[in-house]
Amino acid sequence: MITNFVFENLVKYITKNGTTESIKPVFKTDDFCLYQNDCLTVMAKFPDNYVDMIFADPPYNLSNGGVTCYAGKMVSVNKGKWDKSKGFEADLEFHEKWISECKRILKPEGTIWISGTQHSIYQCGFLLQKLNFHILNDIAWFKPNAAPNLACTTFAHSHETLLWARKDKKARNTFNYELMKNGTFSEDKIKVPDKQMRSVWSIPTPTQDEKEFGKHPTQKPLALLKRIVLASTKENDIVLDPFNGGGTTGIACKKIGHRKYIGIDISEEYISQTIKRYKKNNHQPALHF
Ligand SMILES: C[S@@+](CC[C@H](N)C(=O)[O-])C[C@H]1O[C@@H](n2cnc3c(N)ncnc32)[C@H](O)[C@@H]1O
Repeated sequence: MITNFVFENLVKYITKNGTTESIKPVFKTDDFCLYQNDCLTVMAKFPDNYVDMIFADPPYNLSNGGVTCYAGKMVSVNKGKWDKSKGFEADLEFHEKWISECKRILKPEGTIWISGTQHSIYQCGFLLQKLNFHILNDIAWFKPNAAPNLACTTFAHSHETLLWARKDKKARNTFNYELMKNGTFSEDKIKVPDKQMRSVWSIPTPTQDEKEFGKHPTQKPLALLKRIVLASTKENDIVLDPFNGGGTTGIACKKIGHRKYIGIDISEEYISQTIKRYKKNNHQPALHF
């Protein structure tokens, strides 16, 4: 059965010369599956209409040798080789490839979240429109503890944008409205209890204990991903993160419970951090809502 495709089998596929090959997950349980590989290579092996929700935090392409402020000190802005821009056209082409693949493997009612800064989010938004997604929201994730702007030449960058879009314009997607309205979001100084959740979310950057197994340079806070998973998935849904990083999306699924998670990252270091985080959370009971 296609629903359990990844969780019961390796991803098997027929090559052009007719032989059967497989891409092996590096880690797999009954609710958590990790691939250390290029996301385009792995996603190409998934069937059409397969996953319920995708959260994607692609390279920002901002690692240009500049400086920023971290813990009160001037540090390089560079996140890693994976974050270096290859130029406007090549970056756009990469975004188009992975977003197209996400569209193919999403169920018609499935939704995609894409997070980014000014360096990447306009290209991704343009492509969501070009590829005929139905854009549902753009969320401003405000970071109340964002680093100051050392150069004092522009406003201090203190938010990221999250685009939320559905594959099929006519289908009906999951939105857990009541949970968003009535849930407890104690980290968020903007959310008013028992009032509708609005499109500006105030959530601090990850706490130190979220980084106990290593520092991912662009790790998202668990509170952000828990909100996203809670808002846009239901029990037994398959959630995919093609840019897994330190595995925040997967850990959010694990904490909420009853979701199946697939994460893909090219970095061995980040996959290994994710496995450690998973093992720590594996025996903790699911949250109840
Ligand atoms: C912005 S970070 C994601 C951070 C993640 N959301 C978290 O909370 O930790 C992007 C990640 O994508 C990975 N990456 C970059 N290019 C990739 C590719 N082509 N396929 C798979 N992973 C890739 C990088 O190694 C990096 O960990």
